[in-house]
Amino acid sequence: MAVKDRVAIVTGAGAGIGEAIAKLLASHGARVVINDIFEDRCERVAEEIRQTGHDAMAAVGGVSDREAVSAMMRRTADRFGKIDILVNNAGIGKNRGLMKLSDEEWNAVLDVNLKGVFVCSQTAAGYMRAQQYGRIVNISSRAWLGWYTQANYAASKGGVVSLTRTLALELAKYNITANAVCPGMVETAMGRGQNPPEIMERLMKAQPMGRLGQPEEIAWAILYFASDEAWYVTGQTLFVCGGKSLFATPDLG
Ligand SMILES: NC(=O)c1ccc[n+]([C@@H]2O[C@H](COP(=O)([O-])OP(=O)(O)OC[C@H]3O[C@@H](n4cnc5c(N)ncnc54)[C@H](O)[C@@H]3O)[C@@H](O)[C@H]2O)c1
Repeated sequence: MAVKDRVAIVTGAGAGIGEAIAKLLASHGARVVINDIFEDRCERVAEEIRQTGHDAMAAVGGVSDREAVSAMMRRTADRFGKIDILVNNAGIGKNRGLMKLSDEEWNAVLDVNLKGVFVCSQTAAGYMRAQQYGRIVNISSRAWLGWYTQANYAASKGGVVSLTRTLALELAKYNITANAVCPGMVETAMGRGQNPPEIMERLMKAQPMGRLGQPEEIAWAILYFASDEAWYVTGQTLFVCGGKSLFATPDLG
């Protein structure tokens, strides 16, 4: 799938799914900007990509911080001359049962997971519109269908699906596509970190495939949406969840 010489920004690429996406895009010839709030993570992933003979640049900054995002996009355009692909991957979770969920926990999750996608997409679309080409891929979650203890997270990820559909409509005339990928439970700090081991065991047994997904299994779907070949695909939502979206597991709340 063609992403060779495309310039891609991957947010939250210092670990987990974002790291796998950045490395897969780079291995297919894209020049990749590694964004994260942790500088050491950005630098590590960028360096590991450079060691494989591909081009990568670290860009530290929060995705909902408009000034930081503008600076990152400007640096990208200065260094590589364009921005072809934006993968809005950065995300956080702060799980708690509905009746105990605080305003702070609500706001923090909506700020990164939804406002971050808005700010990054709007800023990148300015560059993409000028060049009449762009691919925006947003990482939502199977959880947007609803999940125990995730009112804030599920709402943010449902917002990402709605936002993706509107981006697709408004940007189609500039040859910019926008699509969303909804992972199920993935083997990362976030995927493992939010539940105690005994709950993880029960959750895994309830998965149709009986296991967590691997970050690379999510990354292949992003590669497709980010590729030249996906010209005529926009506004779509793809579940990559081992079948978890097909039914609900018992109440674990
Ligand atoms: N792991 C799962 O089970 C799972 C399932 C469905 C969806 N997702 C989604 O996939 C994406 C990646 O998740 P992951 O499991 O790799 O998480 P992760 O916690 O392993 O990695 C996320 C990275 O994003 C960075 N980050 C956090 N806030 C940021 C911000 N404001 N700006 C820039 N970077 C920021 C973190 O520092 C971290 O390096 C998220 O959007 C998440 O909601 C994950």
